[in-house]
Amino acid sequence: MTDAANITIDEMTVEGAELLASVHEICFENSPEQAWQKHEFQSLFNVTGTISYVMSINGQPIGFILVREILDEAEILTFCILPKWCNNGYATYLLEWIIKKLQLQSFKRLFLEVRENNDAAIKLYKKCTFKVIGRRKGYYRGHQGDKIDALVMHYELGV
Ligand SMILES: CC(C)(COP(=O)(O)OP(=O)(O)OC[C@H]1O[C@@H](n2cnc3c(N)ncnc32)[C@H](O)[C@@H]1OP(=O)(O)O)[C@@H](O)C(=O)NCCC(=O)NCCS
Repeated sequence: MTDAANITIDEMTVEGAELLASVHEICFENSPEQAWQKHEFQSLFNVTGTISYVMSINGQPIGFILVREILDEAEILTFCILPKWCNNGYATYLLEWIIKKLQLQSFKRLFLEVRENNDAAIKLYKKCTFKVIGRRKGYYRGHQGDKIDALVMHYELGV
């Protein structure tokens, strides 16, 4: 179970690119999705409104969420927790934390895209009451080059 007393969440932009790439690589090593390289994170941070929130336990990074804010909407670009820390509620904690933060900043809508076969992530998002609002046919590629649909999910932040 999560122990909130030991959790810290730090905002990072381009200075965190190397850390994010190293965590992303481990989190996505068993995923059909390619891990993103340091230079890819650097490019993402060139776009205004791109921010990451790194979650640490006793000062050790265990995962992060990368969001892009545009006007009154936000999008989750990627989100991961290191495998050894999974299934302890940390992703739920970080997702609920970012939702509250965006609500306090008066954002209205939160979106994300997820591979239709990423059961763990889809369960997490549904548990946090995200709704599927669309499907992008063949948006992702699998290991064999096969096409995998993206589900577009939405969380209504405004009350
Ligand atoms: C998806 C991910 C972020 C979940 O992190 P986590 O810290 O394990 O998630 P939590 O412990 O908060 O679990 C939240 C819910 O997710 C679901 N879940 C998590 N891991 C699961 C798994 N392996 N299989 C099925 N459901 C799973 C469960 O519904 C769980 O809620 P419950 O325990 O009350 O049933 C993590 O597995 C991960 O980083 N995966 C690789 C990267 C990735 O796919 N990111 C998402 C890209 S959109």
